[in-house]
Amino acid sequence: MTQYAIQTEELTREYSTLRALDRLSLEIPAGSIFGFLGSNGAGKTTTIHLLLGLLRPTAGRAAVLGHDVATEIDEVRRRTGALLDKAGLYARLGVQDNLEFYGRIWHMPRRERRARSEELLRQFGLWDRRKEPAGRLSFGMKRKLAVARALFHRPDLVFLDEPTAGLDPVSAESLRRSLVDLVAQEGVTVFLTTHNVPEAGKVCDQIGIIRSGQLLASGSPEELRASAGSNRIVVRGSGFTEEAFTLLALRPEVERAETRGGTLHVWLVPGSSAAPIISLLAGCGVLMEEVVRETTFEDAFLSVLGAEDHEPQTARVARGRFGAVRADEAFALSVPEREGSELSAGVA
Ligand SMILES: Nc1ncnc2c1ncn2[C@@H]1O[C@H](COP(=O)(O)OP(=O)(O)O)[C@@H](O)[C@H]1O
Ligand SMILES: [Mg+2]
Repeated sequence: MTQYAIQTEELTREYSTLRALDRLSLEIPAGSIFGFLGSNGAGKTTTIHLLLGLLRPTAGRAAVLGHDVATEIDEVRRRTGALLDKAGLYARLGVQDNLEFYGRIWHMPRRERRARSEELLRQFGLWDRRKEPAGRLSFGMKRKLAVARALFHRPDLVFLDEPTAGLDPVSAESLRRSLVDLVAQEGVTVFLTTHNVPEAGKVCDQIGIIRSGQLLASGSPEELRASAGSNRIVVRGSGFTEEAFTLLALRPEVERAETRGGTLHVWLVPGSSAAPIISLLAGCGVLMEEVVRETTFEDAFLSVLGAEDHEPQTARVARGRFGAVRADEAFALSVPEREGSELSAGVA
């Protein structure tokens, strides 16, 4: 029997007329890093609050570590840690003292508090700063300390609500790495939320994609990739002219195209053939050295969102969507790969 760290059944939460979470049914295996991926307002924080008993569901049920959140919330809280929007740090208290103070709340013996705080501070690269007031740490270091705090009492499951939001890429990467190492060492299950698509693809072994309170897809990044099919062609070569771009934009198979370095990336409408695109490029004098068809996790993610879009495919191009797949989702903001492309086909 699989042990689930979290199970929800049609979990629903309404705020007057707004349905912030709509019949969420999820099963998250113990020991996994689950990434709940969705833009602002999708319902991620609401879900965490429901799972921690900070909010009551309008309908449905949830169990955390085998405990029903409606009846056994004390047990749930004892065995979980959380980083919510308030970091819960004391600015004037030292870095290590912040952790140890928290350990006292959990009635951990002094010796254990010492050992655990040293272990975590070393893990998160904060050991050298242990005596400084927490308020003096950089934003990224504070965030690490807050994550360390959430893990301090060795919970079996930790909720991290947007742990890397607002961090620079280097700090975010460093926090991710410490977290992944810790999970490997301690076997804690992680439920994290993010709107950063590449991050979720890298860190998480299970993903849920949520929009407007509804779960659109869930599974491992690999499963999501496989179910999306390969909808991108990558052409290495030269001679990618404006004319070639303009003609590409007119093809009904094409959703979007851009160049990155010396390569041309063309996203196809799911299920369409690459052959007309390749002959079009050849006809425009593009010198193709290599053509590959592939899907990244990011492509899979966009295809999940795209599949929910029941517009006819031609309407998208006619409306000038080319060059901006679901720009309204604002996810592109957190996709660094996209930035710095030299040419971007389509209508602004
Ligand atoms: N206390 C509240 N009262 C009314 N609406 C709320 C409240 N909290 C959240 N919402 C709404 O519920 C939806 C989901 O919010 P939230 O779970 O915070 O999303 P996310 O964490 O994915 O950004 C949003 O439309 C938000 O405006
Ligand atoms: Mg939120």
